[in-house]
Amino acid sequence: MIVIYLLAVASAWQRAVADSDACSSSVIISNQSDANKLISCDTLDGTITISSSASGVITISNVEEIKGAFIAEGASELTKIIAPDLDSVQGGVTLSTLNSLTAITMGALSQVSSSIIITGNPSLKTLGFQELEEIEGQLVLTGSFDSVSLPSLNQVKGHTVITGSSSMSCSTLDSLKSNGVFKNGYSCVTGSSGLSPGAKGGIAVGVIVAVLLIVLVLWFILWRRRQRQRAGQTQSTVPSSSTRSTVLAHDEKAPISQGSVSPHEEPSPLAEPQTLLPRKPVGSAIFLDSRSIYEAPNASTRDQECHELDAGPILSSHQRPINAG
Ligand SMILES: *[C@@H]1O[C@H](CO)[C@@H](O)[C@H](O)[C@H]1NC(C)=O
Repeated sequence: MIVIYLLAVASAWQRAVADSDACSSSVIISNQSDANKLISCDTLDGTITISSSASGVITISNVEEIKGAFIAEGASELTKIIAPDLDSVQGGVTLSTLNSLTAITMGALSQVSSSIIITGNPSLKTLGFQELEEIEGQLVLTGSFDSVSLPSLNQVKGHTVITGSSSMSCSTLDSLKSNGVFKNGYSCVTGSSGLSPGAKGGIAVGVIVAVLLIVLVLWFILWRRRQRQRAGQTQSTVPSSSTRSTVLAHDEKAPISQGSVSPHEEPSPLAEPQTLLPRKPVGSAIFLDSRSIYEAPNASTRDQECHELDAGPILSSHQRPINAG
């Protein structure tokens, strides 16, 4: 009997000593043997951080209270977090970007004095805190959950945001809302994409605007091309309509200044030349003037410009008198 009593005292003393050693500061857990060092801590005075190099299952037994936070971020090989005895966390719970995480087991957790943020864990399909009653900060549970179960939830003082897959139901959470559990805003959204209805509407409008813009730009390009083609056609028709003028074009100014024009002496269409000198395209204004140049009467064409006419090919019967003179 005395032996049993002594053993009990000894073990209690041993536990107290161990508490003062391992349980008074923050710890980083990289593997299960690190987690096993906390086995004698009812209360941890610091924060528990699960290292990003941790893999597989991490079980934290016997720890009932964490005075700091409980954090696991970016551990892509971590599959399960098990803390069956944990009752309260003062500093908040953050479990995010854990690609392989399939389960969080914290069946005794009842109070969190800061926020619970569980987000970016694509393999986590079910989430439940059966004993969780009170959250002093925010409650953010976003992911592709098929079910989120918070049957004991009594009060969330911060904002609550919950998203899940299209197979998740918000109805039980909605009933918590109508019971006044969420003190500072609540939203529960389900759908495979995890986007809010507002974001979906924004994307739809953006797509419609983009399609309209593309159609408008295509139409403008086609319109410009057609305009250019039309312009090209008119340019090619202009010179052929006033071919004769080009022969005289190099000295068109002198006859204009003389101003002696006889409109009756129109050149006969039969006299139109078949071939022409090669020339560069000229503006339409020159062609209009050239007609009057052409019609200059022989009487007054004794001067230089008559010789100019001789320089080129004879285009019509009109020019014969000039040569004769
Ligand atoms: C666990 O990680 C610690 C570093 O946190 C290391 O010193 C120890 O050797 C590791 N133990 C095993 C079994 O891998």
